[in-house]
Amino acid sequence: MTALTLSTSAAPTLRADAIVIGVAKGAKGPVVAPGAEAVDQAYDGKLAGVLETLGASGAEGEVTKLPAPAGFKTPLLVAVGLGSAPEKDAEYGSEALRRAAGAAARALTGIKKAGFALPLADAGDAGVIAEGALMGAYSFDAYKDQGRQAEGAAKAKNGKAPLAEIALLGGKPRDKAHKAAVDRATAVVEELNRARDLINTPPNDLNPEGFAAIATAAGKAHGIKVQVLDEKALTKGGYGGILGVGAGSASAPRLVKLSYTSSKATKHLALVGKGITYDSGGISLKPAGHNETMKCDMSGAAAVFAAVVAVARLGLEVNVTAWLALAENMPSGSATRPGDVLRMYSGKTVEVLNTDAEGRLVLADALWAASQEKPDAIVDVATLTGAMVLALGNRTFGVMANDDAFRSALVEAAEEVGEQSWPMPLPEHLRKGMDSPVADIANMGERMGGGLVAGLFLREFVGEGITWAHLDIAGPAFNEGGPFGYTPKGGTGSSVRTLIRLAELTAAGDLG
Ligand code: BES
Ligand code: MN
Ligand code: ZN
Repeated sequence: MTALTLSTSAAPTLRADAIVIGVAKGAKGPVVAPGAEAVDQAYDGKLAGVLETLGASGAEGEVTKLPAPAGFKTPLLVAVGLGSAPEKDAEYGSEALRRAAGAAARALTGIKKAGFALPLADAGDAGVIAEGALMGAYSFDAYKDQGRQAEGAAKAKNGKAPLAEIALLGGKPRDKAHKAAVDRATAVVEELNRARDLINTPPNDLNPEGFAAIATAAGKAHGIKVQVLDEKALTKGGYGGILGVGAGSASAPRLVKLSYTSSKATKHLALVGKGITYDSGGISLKPAGHNETMKCDMSGAAAVFAAVVAVARLGLEVNVTAWLALAENMPSGSATRPGDVLRMYSGKTVEVLNTDAEGRLVLADALWAASQEKPDAIVDVATLTGAMVLALGNRTFGVMANDDAFRSALVEAAEEVGEQSWPMPLPEHLRKGMDSPVADIANMGERMGGGLVAGLFLREFVGEGITWAHLDIAGPAFNEGGPFGYTPKGGTGSSVRTLIRLAELTAAGDLG
């Protein structure tokens, strides 16, 4: 990943390939943001006018490149839009800084070293600029040019290498708070980017067994206990949901449990992730046009995996158990059929009416397994329904819960870290749509409110009295459009930062 350091260098004397400054939308045209004073001076205080001449407005995400002033040790100046300038004496918002840093880092692809001279007033700013820059510099090029990998060359033939080095100007390398903020950002984004890599990896190279092996190795590296249930253990344990979904695939399913424990913990948080390494729909096959991106259907498992590893790296004083419910949903002679009845790990029976509603089946077993440890709270994360995408669009995840205060806590935690989410209800009347004539429940109900129906299904598999929330990230998990801010094309790492924030709040005792 891109290396990032705090630097006391001044912009004119930094030896690098580019300097990044902020430009905001003022009442009468673009304004140069704090942090770029020395650069503005080199233009006799007329940089805002120069930028306006070049067409810059300060709009969010806008990137304007110009030659650096004479005497600078860098050839290139990059002005990145911060959006509307804050009111007098107010500061730039965290998310505006994250997004601008991300857009700038991506615009510098192919360049080696850049100094970021963005508004950095305190350690918090250093942390969010670091986060945005490291997330924005991400690129997935493992399959772009195998020759590059083999040669170990820095530059791809048919793509450019991501920005290698960032110096945060205005940072205080000897200040404890500044250092801690950058260290936190680095750990969080390294794991978030690893989740993106997993999501982007094509499904012929990432099956449940392979994912479990990656989780096992990461657990070892970070002092996390890992237990993997393979198909034999799942059969012996009666995990009918996970086995039923995996039955059609040549790659057998897995349930992975990652346990991070802190000797100072007083709370236990369980995270459950949907890990469908490919969702073809199964016998209820998805039509063409709906399965090309279904390698992303393990984004929930990737998120909870990234979160528990980040929590371990940060040494948070909270116990966190992550459960990865891994299976590949394929049609074949051994696949579960619409009409089959599965006996779940909880003992309940489920009539499978649609094999494409598979996520709730694997999650049901993992939620019940997580419940057996009686954690203080369970949060599951899943690319669960197309209905949630229709409801909230591509950038917002839905939050459902059996506890209103916990649902609000998750929405607030998301807001704090710059993730968009929205509280969704679990209307009781939708439950009867899942009544089955042959089993305890069916895996499908009314079409209207499909995301909420799925949430109600999951609720049935949460242990009595356990606080639970469900994040449906089907919209924001995978970006099919162009990159924006710090969000790349493809896997986004949606919910990773929210989960880590939740763990921090839980450790601090700020949650119930
Ligand atoms: N993995 C899909 C949901 C999905 C859709 C994720 C779009 C990301 C983008 C899920 O397994 C699914 O197929 N859900 C069905 C449920 C239905 C059959 C009740 C859906 O939403 O159509
Ligand atoms: Mn499906
Ligand atoms: Zn799915």
